[in-house]
Amino acid sequence: MGKGPVEGLLIPEPQGKLVYVCVQCEAHYPLDRFLYTCPGCGGLLRIKDLEFQRLKAYPPEVWKEVFKGRRTLELDALKGVFLFYELVLPVIPLEDVLYLGEGQTPLVRANEALSDWVGIPFYVKYEGLNPSLSFKDRGMASAVSFINFAIKRKGLKEVLGICASTGDTSAAAALYLAYLPREKVHSVVLLPEGKVTEAQLSQPLGAGATVIEVPGVFDDCMRIVEELASKYEVCLLNSKNPLRIQGQKTFAYEVAQQVGWDLKGLMVVVPVGNAGNVTAIMEGFLDLHELGLIEELPYILAVQSEHADPIYRWWKTGEYVPVKVRPSVAQAAMIGNPVSFPKVRQLVEGPFKERFLAVRVSETEIMEGMLFTNKNGHVVCTQGGEAIAGLRKASREGILPEGLRKVVVNSTSHQLKFSNFQRAYFEGTFPPEFEVAVREELRNRPVKLPADPHAIAEYLRLKPRDEA
Ligand code: F0G
Repeated sequence: MGKGPVEGLLIPEPQGKLVYVCVQCEAHYPLDRFLYTCPGCGGLLRIKDLEFQRLKAYPPEVWKEVFKGRRTLELDALKGVFLFYELVLPVIPLEDVLYLGEGQTPLVRANEALSDWVGIPFYVKYEGLNPSLSFKDRGMASAVSFINFAIKRKGLKEVLGICASTGDTSAAAALYLAYLPREKVHSVVLLPEGKVTEAQLSQPLGAGATVIEVPGVFDDCMRIVEELASKYEVCLLNSKNPLRIQGQKTFAYEVAQQVGWDLKGLMVVVPVGNAGNVTAIMEGFLDLHELGLIEELPYILAVQSEHADPIYRWWKTGEYVPVKVRPSVAQAAMIGNPVSFPKVRQLVEGPFKERFLAVRVSETEIMEGMLFTNKNGHVVCTQGGEAIAGLRKASREGILPEGLRKVVVNSTSHQLKFSNFQRAYFEGTFPPEFEVAVREELRNRPVKLPADPHAIAEYLRLKPRDEA
């Protein structure tokens, strides 16, 4: 028997014709240098495959089998985000793909108590199980694989990768760049001093990056790296770099695969900061729709904190105004002027019209969302807690669309990255500007007892064994 189409497609060869496209003026630019904005009009860029149509030579069922079949291959390059090779950066040969364990994160069902509390059954997708413990690894796997490819095949001699970060982008960038040869690649991260957690700060330090702390908030750091990227030979690794969005789209591909490609009545809940992630997720679903792999686009519920809510305000009023952020426990999403806003606007006014909702939650609601969820067998971070609080709010306010059949919440990072906020809650040490009201029944503290079984038994009021 000859090879069927699925077998022939399982292990892909480089293919496609990728260009940068300006989302504003639609100018095209080749991928022979790093670009973050359109040299013509300053608009944001997308990656486009000019030969995308070739993929339509095969029916959707073939692609579904290919993406299923790749999960069983013992081939590192296809284990992570490049499992969806044709839709990520298919010009990179498999030998140049970096796989550090990212992607293929599980969907975990909320138990009955949690579903009741939120008001609707849902699943959590654990992006905190990526190697640097956040979803950022998806985009770094694609962007840094491209850097590796450019070094190996395009004569790129030296790279200085740089990013501004609220903590997770920097952890991921430092990790992926650290995998490449030290003599060719240097990694620099810019952090707002005192506004990333201890755990997040330890990550780029441990990976050997140059860590620069500056006064201010993320938006200030972002302005600095944007200027550096426009004036100097550096590779910007923020989500403004569309090579990152390519990897982050795989969240959407995985969700579609995990729900059996049936997206009817699906809603995805996303905490929004710089808006790279929500953009990538919407674009990812659009790719699948265009290929015929899904029949419907899902609903997107974007969630923001009252302390950093520019997207929510825009959605509510139609007017976009950057906001001055206030301290937020969803600190990784504490961003007043999201870089990807123009892309969000296009998607929400275009294909996601009628499919996009936004809610805003208080700091107290975010903490309660996280704590209650984790008390029911999860490991969500404050941003995951924010998303769950947003779902609860949308459910209580009756704004969820009719006919929802499945809800997937993106818990964007791991609980332990943000354990300082849990600690402040439990110890009652939140500074007032966070505006977190503490509920006694959600607190938990260690109990100090003597190293004595009797004392412990007494404390626990253990019943003696029945010796009958
Ligand atoms: N959740 C976590 C854990 C994050 O780290 C971020 C963003 C977001 C949600 C918001 O995602 O920016 O794509 O809308 N962190 C960036 C960083 C800004 O620098 O780590 P977004």
